[in-house]
Amino acid sequence: MAPTTPATTVWDTKTQQFHGGQEWQFIDNFVEDFSVTTNGLGLPKKALQAARDSLDISHHYPAADQEPAKTNLAKFYAPDGFESVHERLLLGNGASELIDLVTRAAPEGPWKPGPWTVQYKEYERSAIALGRKVLAPKDATPASLTCIVNPNNPTGDYMNIEALKKYIEETVADNTDVMVDESMQPWHSPSFRSDSLISQPTWIANLFQTRGIAVYLIHSWTKLWSCTGLRLGSLVCPTVAHCTALKKVQVPWSVNVPALAFLQVVTSSDEQPFLDETWAVTTPWRTYTVDALTTLGQHVNSGKGWTITGEPFLSWVWIDMHDAEVAAQAVELAKRAGVPVRSGVPGYACHTCVRAAVRKPELVDKLVRAWQPLVKA
Ligand SMILES: Cc1ncc(COP(=O)(O)O)c(C=O)c1O
Repeated sequence: MAPTTPATTVWDTKTQQFHGGQEWQFIDNFVEDFSVTTNGLGLPKKALQAARDSLDISHHYPAADQEPAKTNLAKFYAPDGFESVHERLLLGNGASELIDLVTRAAPEGPWKPGPWTVQYKEYERSAIALGRKVLAPKDATPASLTCIVNPNNPTGDYMNIEALKKYIEETVADNTDVMVDESMQPWHSPSFRSDSLISQPTWIANLFQTRGIAVYLIHSWTKLWSCTGLRLGSLVCPTVAHCTALKKVQVPWSVNVPALAFLQVVTSSDEQPFLDETWAVTTPWRTYTVDALTTLGQHVNSGKGWTITGEPFLSWVWIDMHDAEVAAQAVELAKRAGVPVRSGVPGYACHTCVRAAVRKPELVDKLVRAWQPLVKA
């Protein structure tokens, strides 16, 4: 099957890391973007309106202290005592900016990913760009910077809080840095905080005091609140001193006026219904997706079928079609039907895999229809 617009055309692949979410703008019959891991509910309406309204004051600079949005985010993180989070919190132009900031500031030396077979590439990209040696997850060489994505994009693997702490305690070397990316963790449930590192300030403080291990918590908010174009990320540092050191080298005003206005509202009670709906619909929509694709996979590959991985609460599925040719065709067919998916090839080098977002059932049906030609007579 001859490809239409190649997936990589918008990226300078010699210097940039491939990422989903670019093709929609080149597809004439575009219906829905399945190539990203954003919330299937789209942009929260009240927060979007606040961002729109703020364009009227966008001839002014954003607040240099990022307030009041920053305080609202700290309260979102820790409703019962936000001060300690607030004094260790930095906001960024997407998580990508903060990932790069921490990678620049971490002690010199090798970089290591978390335990998964393949993980979100931005951490590795930044490490390589800054001249760090990349170690394999099981390499016994101590890494100066370890980056764990939990839940992991793209595989959907997840360690609960006790498993995560144990992994860090057992694998991370003394006097080094760790970034833990929990961007997809708030999907867990209304009580997501209790299974997040945000619930572990004492453990984080002790780990730094006793072993010099600095644990940074990263969130990309562009997924949960579906605002990839607005750009919002945050970083909770292990101590106030770490936060101050990074603030000194961070570019000023990196979060613009509409993004701050959006954040202020999206973290308020006005948008609680959006979160409640997210928790209510994502797992049923994902179950629908898994069932539909499992059935299709059995018709496409009557031997192995398709293997679909990831926690039930997540906003995407990772599909191993067990056949590189079928996976390539699936990417092309989805694009032609206006429902692009994320190929497992660029960056991840998973030639038999495809990632697809969780969307409402009628949109999933369109993707399944687009993939019918994969079933050979
Ligand atoms: C796990 C994870 N972390 C961080 C990011 C970076 O996101 P952004 O810079 O849009 O906030 C992404 C984007 O796909 C991601 O999947």
